[in-house]
Amino acid sequence: MKKIFILLLAVTFSSLNAIAEPVNSHAQRTLIVYFSQPENVKLDGVDGISGASILQKNGQISGSTQYLAQIIQRHTGGELFRIETVTPYPTQHEPLLRYAEQEQRDNRYPELKTKIDNLADYDRVFIGYPIWWYKMPMPLYSFLQQHDLSGKTLIPFTSHGGSRFSDSLREIKRLQPDARLVTQGLAISRDDVADDGTVTRVGDWLNKLTSVQQ
Ligand SMILES: Cc1cc2nc3c(=O)[nH]c(=O)nc-3n(C[C@H](O)[C@H](O)[C@H](O)COP(=O)(O)O)c2cc1C
Repeated sequence: MKKIFILLLAVTFSSLNAIAEPVNSHAQRTLIVYFSQPENVKLDGVDGISGASILQKNGQISGSTQYLAQIIQRHTGGELFRIETVTPYPTQHEPLLRYAEQEQRDNRYPELKTKIDNLADYDRVFIGYPIWWYKMPMPLYSFLQQHDLSGKTLIPFTSHGGSRFSDSLREIKRLQPDARLVTQGLAISRDDVADDGTVTRVGDWLNKLTSVQQ
C-alpha cells in the first residue's frame, strides 16, 4: 500500500508547558525559522491514532516540523519565524505530492509572504523543514536566496519519512557559504516526532550542541 507522507500532530499546551524552562537561553540571540505543511486529514479526536503516518495526541494540531520548532523555542527562548508562501500549498496529500514534485522539477522558487528584516538581531538561526522528494521544500530555497545569513551559526533540523537530511545540508552550505553550518543537525522520523521522549531528545541534542560550540 502506498505510504502516505504525512504526520499530523496534536499537542496540548499542557504538554508544551511540561518542557523545562530554557536550558541554554540567552547565550546567543536565537531565531528559529521553519517550514511545515500539515495536511488536511480527518482526525476522530481519539488519543493515539496512528497508522498511515497520522498521529494525534489531543488538542492543537500542527505539522511535525512545526512541533519540533516549538520544542526548540521552549528550550532556547528564541523567536519563531514560519516560512509561508503567498500561494498556499494543497492541503490534501496526493495533490500536495504532485504539486511539490512539479514545483521542484520546474525549479520554481515560490514567493514568500514575508521577509525577515532584522536578521542582525540574531547570532544563531535554527532552520527546520520536512524533506520533500529527497530535497528541502522549494520555499527553503526562496528563503535562503532572499536572506543573507553570513557569519551566523545555522543549525538544521528536519522531520522526514526516512531520507533524513538527504542532500539538504550540502544545499544549505551552497546557498549560504559564509554561514557557519552546524553539521550535527537533528533529523527525526515523522513516525517518532510525537513520541513522549521527543522533548527530552531535543533537549539532549541542544545540550550537546551547546557543549560543542563552547
Ligand atoms: C510532497 C511531499 C514529499 C515528501 N517526500 C519525502 C521524501 O522524499 N523523503 C522523506 O523521507 N520524506 C518525504 N516526505 C515526508 C515528510 O518529509 C514528512 O512527512 C515530514 O514529517 C512532514 O513534515 P511537516 O508535517 O512539518 O510538513 C514527503 C512529504 C510530502 C508532503
